[in-house]
Amino acid sequence: VFVRELSGLTDMEIQLQSILGISKVVILPQDSDEIPAVKSHIGKEAARLLEALFGRCKKIAVTGGSTMAAISKELSIGKPDRTLQFIAARGGLGEDVLHQANTIAAAFAEKTGGSFKTLYLPDHLSAEAFAMMMKEPVIKEMMDLYDQTDVVVHGIGNAEEMAVRRHSSLEEVEKIRSGGAVSEAFGYYFDKDGKIVYRIRTAGIQLEQVQKASTILAVAGGGSKARAILSYFNNAPTPTVLITDEGAARKILELT
Ligand code: F6P
Repeated sequence: VFVRELSGLTDMEIQLQSILGISKVVILPQDSDEIPAVKSHIGKEAARLLEALFGRCKKIAVTGGSTMAAISKELSIGKPDRTLQFIAARGGLGEDVLHQANTIAAAFAEKTGGSFKTLYLPDHLSAEAFAMMMKEPVIKEMMDLYDQTDVVVHGIGNAEEMAVRRHSSLEEVEKIRSGGAVSEAFGYYFDKDGKIVYRIRTAGIQLEQVQKASTILAVAGGGSKARAILSYFNNAPTPTVLITDEGAARKILELT
């Protein structure tokens, strides 16, 4: 606590809470862009916050990404809790396997003794295939689970970087660019004002379902994500808690 106060992190947390319009921001020292261990620190903090919810929150939707993977490495609970259920927030297969929502959901379940629900679908379905898929009972079952989600844990990324990481088609990249997308979270791309400019055509949690969750943990750090974080929080659900680092926080304060 003393170190945090000395370094002004507590003040920065209060400033960011008001800038982003949310009730809680946790800032870890240093910048994960420069020091990779900082991402593990973000993961550890997010893991502790999530573990504290396990008593009353049982259905937890999770997205993919390296920051989410850092949380799964840090989860540890005393005794296995079979009542926990981790749900992959998206069916996407576009990313590296280790960083897919499906893999993360399985890893969270393994660490906690809970169960998991995955959804294996390509990231880029045609309109016809998408319409057909949505009628499938397994997809309907996922959609019902998203409706009952208590907690959503998700990463935030830079829009263009995510389009590349997902091997998006030229047509998609064009939509993302021309729409002025700055950030990406759970398959949605947002412009600088937080307006949705594009959404990946695959089955996944809807923004309205995220908004219905009682707690949302957003995990993203590094100075390079400052613009993306600002963009996302222009329209983010208020029960969101942001777990970030000093690198992102300082840059956000500079930009605002
Ligand atoms: O692809 C899953 C995802 O959570 C995206 O929604 C987000 O933009 C990205 O990963 C964040 O990835 P990372 O934590 O590796 O920066």
